[in-house]
Amino acid sequence: MTAVVAAQLRLKLGVVGKGGVGKTTISGLLARAFAERGRHVVAIDTDSNPNLGLSLGLSLIETEAVPVLPRSVVVGSGTTGAADLIAEYGRATPAGPTLLSAIKVAAAGAGCTCSGHATVRSLLAAALADVDVALVDMEAGLEHLSRSGGTLAHADVLLVVCEATRKSVLTAARTAALAAELGIAEVVAVGNKARTEQDVTFFDDALSAAGIELIGVLPYDEGVAGADRTGAVGPVPVTPDIQHALEEVLAGLAAAQGRAADVAG
Ligand SMILES: Nc1ncnc2c1ncn2[C@@H]1O[C@H](COP(=O)(O)OP(=O)(O)O)[C@@H](O)[C@H]1O
Ligand SMILES: [Mg+2]
Repeated sequence: MTAVVAAQLRLKLGVVGKGGVGKTTISGLLARAFAERGRHVVAIDTDSNPNLGLSLGLSLIETEAVPVLPRSVVVGSGTTGAADLIAEYGRATPAGPTLLSAIKVAAAGAGCTCSGHATVRSLLAAALADVDVALVDMEAGLEHLSRSGGTLAHADVLLVVCEATRKSVLTAARTAALAAELGIAEVVAVGNKARTEQDVTFFDDALSAAGIELIGVLPYDEGVAGADRTGAVGPVPVTPDIQHALEEVLAGLAAAQGRAADVAG
């Protein structure tokens, strides 16, 4: 995408997909890429076992210390605005974006997380008054798309991350169907951890059969996997191949956002 488009993009993005496909890794990479292009980015971790902070370059101790958004706060009602919540609960990260932690489950038997999801839903509805890009790293599963009203109901675009397995593409197809029911028309896919040309062909064929646009494919990268294994602190390493794939994904997201904005009028 041209630098101009990237530098002007305003986007509410939900990153979804089957467990382990790379949602958190790609959320971190994309949030950082937007921030590097001058966008004010808030990255929202909705995993009950949050680790987006690690992908954004925080240490484990710093990630654990990010305060969790209070549950049941409805942004936009009364005096609470998105800017207030971001200022109070957001934490700066080495990668650039401000991190919010929404759904941490700190104690066994602490009850359901529905009210935390409601907070994220309202935050997403209001977020673009105060930031350019709001990116939500969703926990695996489809519940967030059906949970009363849908956590991601106010997203412009869903990015469904797939690996080269039938099951991850099946999850993508189910996600797209639920998203359509929520009124989110723009669901696009990114393939991740591609090791061979066959993997790339699989993404092309399987996603096209599912009727979902593939906007980019990230290779399997030993540096990314290795950084996770060793617990290296700092933003996820970016090779030229990953960088190239990220550029394609950014372009695809900008196009999807443009279509979403056209529909919204
Ligand atoms: N492109 C990639 N190349 C190599 N390893 C990857 C890549 N993307 C993700 N991983 C690894 O896959 C594992 C799962 O990634 P993660 O982002 O935590 O997935 P999710 O959030 O979908 O559960 C992690 O160990 C991560 O380092
Ligand atoms: Mg994750």
